[in-house]
Amino acid sequence: MDRLVVTGGTRLHGSVRISGAKNSALKLMAASLLAEGETVIENVPHIADCLTMAEVLDRLGAGASWEGSSLRIDASGALEVETPYELVSQMRASIVVLGPLLARQGRARVAMPGGCNIGSRKIDLHLKGFERMGARFSYDHGFLNATAPSLRGAMISLDFPSVGATENILMAAVGATGTTVIENAAREPEIQDLAAMLVQMGAKIDGAGSTTMEIHGVDGFTAVRHRVIPDRIEAGTFAIAVCATGGSVTIEEGRAEHLDLVLDKLGEAGATVEAKDRSVRVEMSERPRQIDLVTLPFPGFPTDLQPQMMALLAAARGTSIVTENVFESRFMFVDELNRMGADIRTEGHHAVIRGVDRLSAAPVRALDIRAGAAMVIAALAADGTTDIADIHHVDRGYEDLEGRLTSLGAEVRREPSPWPAER
Ligand code: UD1
Repeated sequence: MDRLVVTGGTRLHGSVRISGAKNSALKLMAASLLAEGETVIENVPHIADCLTMAEVLDRLGAGASWEGSSLRIDASGALEVETPYELVSQMRASIVVLGPLLARQGRARVAMPGGCNIGSRKIDLHLKGFERMGARFSYDHGFLNATAPSLRGAMISLDFPSVGATENILMAAVGATGTTVIENAAREPEIQDLAAMLVQMGAKIDGAGSTTMEIHGVDGFTAVRHRVIPDRIEAGTFAIAVCATGGSVTIEEGRAEHLDLVLDKLGEAGATVEAKDRSVRVEMSERPRQIDLVTLPFPGFPTDLQPQMMALLAAARGTSIVTENVFESRFMFVDELNRMGADIRTEGHHAVIRGVDRLSAAPVRALDIRAGAAMVIAALAADGTTDIADIHHVDRGYEDLEGRLTSLGAEVRREPSPWPAER
């Protein structure tokens, strides 16, 4: 278990290139199972979650091999249908193989997921959608068995615009008989990326990126080459880091249109933001000002940037209020920020953050991917040297975070952890 050792107080300067979007790459990798051929996905980040998904594909019989940042996935042979617990427990997003397996094989056996420590994350919406398409489920020994000898199109109205349910149902619907309509669909850019690759493969999809998607099932898919969109959450993380430390950074491949509200909020906090075609420059020359924000599905403020914003606001001028509407337990990392001198109180899904003059370094833990990124931001802005343990959580979502922060002038190094991992 590694830790990061971060000495705060340095302003960030220079430019940083954003990797391919983790949350897009994982679903594109699952979609490759639909085509009997060799898919090439470019711009896949070398992070633990993508390595886990490559292993899931391998176990299913779709050999995955890396060439730099491109991933070749050969799903031309017969596929297995079982995804084991040791992989699903590392990354709950592995359940997105359910949709493509049902479409191609008519059955799947997937271990029930564990995953990020941010609340009980159910998959009921995924399963209700598949059921409407004719799938049946049974459970044994921690596994979910799904069968759908003939998957057929259906009207599916989601109770909540779940990203994973929209994607999983979409990947089943493209190969079902007839037309599927998904109402209250999620609209995240990653869903549009997935739909773009599926259309290139031969799928017929209308309305990707809107709340109603209409999918006309087709027979058979062609393997294609597709480039993953840049990671908006990684871009947002760097933008927030600059606001916390002060300085000026150009975020190459940052897409302003994917970060509208985030950049507006950083502007409200005092940053100067300049959006170009394929980059965003963020400059901060004052102490951040308080802001209020509410997380919501896209195009609302992303829940995956809420912890990083809390780290920024912890040392802002004034009192901020943050409301978390997407995940029920996404404030657990607040105790770690308070150990660094932050003054944050939570009540249900609201947090009241009284900005302190300066955070102070302390030994802390990364509790999940984004909470870990928040601790790194807090440490960059704090007085002294912070030890952040359990950094493997951050490695699930960020490629070489310490290298890239160092190139911007930060003092960050990785060391083996002297503490036992939390049980
Ligand atoms: C995806 C992202 C994650 C991001 C989240 C919201 C990936 C790999 N992960 O997660 O980083 O934080 O979108 O933008 O892409 N829910 C149910 N039943 C379901 C499905 C979801 O109740 O069947 C609830 C969840 O518990 C949660 C909310 O809906 O409270 C949102 O979940 P969802 O949009 O599905 O997130 P994920 O796809 O898991």
